[in-house]
Amino acid sequence: MAKLWAKGYDLDKLIEEFTVGVDYRLDREIAVADCMGSVAHARMLETIGILTPGERGALEDELRRYAVEAVEGKFRISRDEEDCHSAIENRLTAALGETGKKIHTGRSRNDQVLTALRLVERSFLLHWVDAMVSLVRCLSDFAERERYSPMPGRTHLQPAMPSSVGLWAAAYSGRLVDQLVVADAVYALIDRSPLGSAAGYGVPLPIDRELTARLMGFSEVHTNVIAAANSRGELDAWLLSLLDHTGLILSRFAEDIILFSLPEFGFFSLPPELCSGSSIMPQKRNPDALELMRARSATLSGYASQVGSVVRSLPGGYNRDLQETKEPVLRGMRGGLLMVRVAERIVARLAVDRDRLAAAFTPEIFATDAAFELVAKGASFRDAYREVAQRLDELSDRDPVQMLKRRTHAGTATHHDFDAALGRAMSLSERFDERRERVRRAVVDLLGDELPVYLARDPT
Ligand code: ARG
Repeated sequence: MAKLWAKGYDLDKLIEEFTVGVDYRLDREIAVADCMGSVAHARMLETIGILTPGERGALEDELRRYAVEAVEGKFRISRDEEDCHSAIENRLTAALGETGKKIHTGRSRNDQVLTALRLVERSFLLHWVDAMVSLVRCLSDFAERERYSPMPGRTHLQPAMPSSVGLWAAAYSGRLVDQLVVADAVYALIDRSPLGSAAGYGVPLPIDRELTARLMGFSEVHTNVIAAANSRGELDAWLLSLLDHTGLILSRFAEDIILFSLPEFGFFSLPPELCSGSSIMPQKRNPDALELMRARSATLSGYASQVGSVVRSLPGGYNRDLQETKEPVLRGMRGGLLMVRVAERIVARLAVDRDRLAAAFTPEIFATDAAFELVAKGASFRDAYREVAQRLDELSDRDPVQMLKRRTHAGTATHHDFDAALGRAMSLSERFDERRERVRRAVVDLLGDELPVYLARDPT
C-alpha cells in the first residue's frame, strides 16, 4: 500500500525500517481513536460543503467498521504504510475511491495523531481514576479495620514511637488522593481538541474546530495552532509524571509490605495465590508482585523522563522525533493502570498479625511518651528528656493501644477520619462523572457503539 506522501519514488528500505520503527504496530492501539476523530472530521467537512451527505455517510460506515476491527485487534497496518492514519485513508480510498481521497482535507497527520492520542489518554484517565478511587476505598476500609492495631512507628528504620496499622494505611490513601488532584488538572489540559491545527499552522479553509471539538466530547478547542502542535510530548510527559508520582507512592507501599512481611517482622502476610514460588527451594513464597511494583515504578519514571528528554531540545513545530514518545506513553499508561489494580488486590488480601505487632513493642518505644508524662507533671521537656534517657532500662512495658489513645489531637489513630480520604476521592471523582458521560456520548455518537477508545493492551 502506498504512503500518503508517495510522490513516485520508493523510500530506501533501511531508512523506512529506521523511521517507521515499531510505530505501525503501536498504532493499532490508537486506531479506534483515529477513526473517531475522522468521523468527527468528516461531519465537519460536510457542514462546510467539502463532502456531500452521501459521501460523509459512506465514510462514517467504513470508519465505524475499522474501529470495530481495531477493538478486536484485527485492523492491519503494514510497515510500508507507516501508521494507522495512512492505513485508514488507504482503506477508505480502496473502498470508496474519490470519496476516500477527500478525508484528509484540512488536516495533517500531525494533528491527527495528536487528536488520537488525546482521545486515548482521556479514556485512559477515566479508567485510571476509577481504579484509584477503588484502591482508596479498599485502603480506607483496611485502615478503619486496623485503626488500633498497634504498629511501631519508625525513623531511620529504627523503632521510634507507637503508631498503628490504620495510620500507616491511611497515610497511603491520603497521598493517593493527592494524585487525583493532579489528575484533575492533567485531564483538563488533555481535554482540548487539537484537530484543525493541521501541520501546526492551520489551513486556508473555513474548517469548524468548535464543531469537531464538540463532536468528540472535548470541553474546548486547543486554540493556538502552534501551541497545540507543540503540546505533543509535553502533555504526554505530564500524564506520565502523574503516573510516575503515583508509582513512587505505590513503590514505597510495596517496599513497606515486603519488609514487614519478612519472618523477622511478621506483621503482614500475603496469601499464597498472590505469591510466586522458587524452582529450587520448596518452602519459598515470594512477594514477586510487590517487587515488580517497585521495579515498574522505576520503569514508569524512565518513561516520563524519556518523553521529556525527547521534546526538551526540539525546535517548535512538528518533528519526527515526536513519534518516539508514543511507545513510552502507551507502555506507561498500561503499566500505571496495572500497578493501581495490583495494589488494590494486595490490600484486599493482606493479613495483619496483631500479636506479632504487639510483640514488637519493646519498652524503649515508649521513651518519648515517658518524657511527655513528666512534662504533664510540670517538668520542662529538656529535663524530662534527660531524665528518661538516663533511666532507659527502667522503662516499663505499656499497652500500646492505650498509648495510642492518649494521642488525642488531629491526625492520630484516635482522631483520624479514615473516611476523609475516600470522601475527597469521591468528590474529585464526581468531577470526572460529567466528563465520563460526555466521552461516552461522543463515542456512541461517532462510532455507533460504546467501543473502548483506550484498549489497555500490551502495545506491540
Ligand atoms: N507516526 C507519526 C507520529 O507518530 C505520524 C505523524 C507523521 N507526520 C509526519 N510529518 N511525518 O508522529
